[in-house]
Amino acid sequence: MIKTKITEMFGSEYPIICGAMMWLGVPELVAAVNNAGGIGTLTAAIFQTEEEFRGAIQRTRELTDKAFMVGVTILPSIAITDEHYKMYLRVCAEGQCRGWK
Ligand SMILES: Cc1cc2nc3c(=O)[nH]c(=O)nc-3n(C[C@H](O)[C@H](O)[C@H](O)COP(=O)(O)O)c2cc1C
Repeated sequence: MIKTKITEMFGSEYPIICGAMMWLGVPELVAAVNNAGGIGTLTAAIFQTEEEFRGAIQRTRELTDKAFMVGVTILPSIAITDEHYKMYLRVCAEGQCRGWK
């Protein structure tokens, strides 16, 4: 058992994080990484609507009971508007995501 600040923060077996990946950071990958002992990152920018984003968080929770990350990119994008950023952060802050600080 490896113990670091990261494993303690996430309750994971290993301090290994799979970073956000556009098109790839979907619930199935996040859960696979989590269930293998690492920490997966749900990639917000994949989900264009609030319904899709909430659904993805819900689906991830169905596939893993472990803590996961949500990546909200700061890279410039013409596809992600100010409204998207507000929506992503609002959904997380509303308690959809545990451990929000
Ligand atoms: C295919 C691919 C897609 C990525 N997409 C994103 C992304 O959408 N947002 C983001 O913040 N980082 C993205 N990244 C960056 C990764 O999250 C990570 O920061 C990067 O691979 C460096 O990690 P490393 O130092 O462990 O190699 C992507 C990386 C890859 C390989």
